[in-house]
Amino acid sequence: MCKLQLSLAIIKPHAVKNPVALSYIRNVIKNKFVVVKTKRVTLDQETAGNFYIEHEEKFFFNRLVTFMSSGYIDLHVLGHRNAIQLWRTMLGPTKVFKAQFEDPYSLRGMFGLSDTRNVAHGSDSIASAEREIKFFFPDFSFYEWHTNTEQLYR
Ligand code: TYD
Ligand code: MG
Repeated sequence: MCKLQLSLAIIKPHAVKNPVALSYIRNVIKNKFVVVKTKRVTLDQETAGNFYIEHEEKFFFNRLVTFMSSGYIDLHVLGHRNAIQLWRTMLGPTKVFKAQFEDPYSLRGMFGLSDTRNVAHGSDSIASAEREIKFFFPDFSFYEWHTNTEQLYR
């Protein structure tokens, strides 16, 4: 029996606007994950602020919220037995210079423009994945999903 772990990926506005980045990112996602849910949305500043509430006190908070509400973002619920760690490894380091020097073929290494415009978001733990998936997909049933995958992957 294999339960798929879930993670929330958000493709940030500058990457959604860049056809080369977006098609590359979609391809790597398709090749590695089961895409459980997908939705393209725009956020107002309040919603973006609530999503990133843990960073409320940080120097970059206003910049981050302004950027995340500046255009379309693509939301993906990704399934893989190691979804959280795998997606974050594919993203590479948060800071763009670190990504470019230490992991140039990571998504952030290739398509990152700044520490804020760093291509995509990835949940960082099981608890944050659950919170973030519920934040954008309030009707999502983890119970149903796990029951179904138990049947599928037993
Ligand atoms: P964080 O949770 O530290 O990084 P990650 O996205 O890798 O989990 O930060 C959340 C977002 O805040 C990050 O993706 C982009 C933005 N940010 C900045 O704009 N400047 C910074 O110096 C940092 C650390 C983050
Ligand atoms: Mg984070």
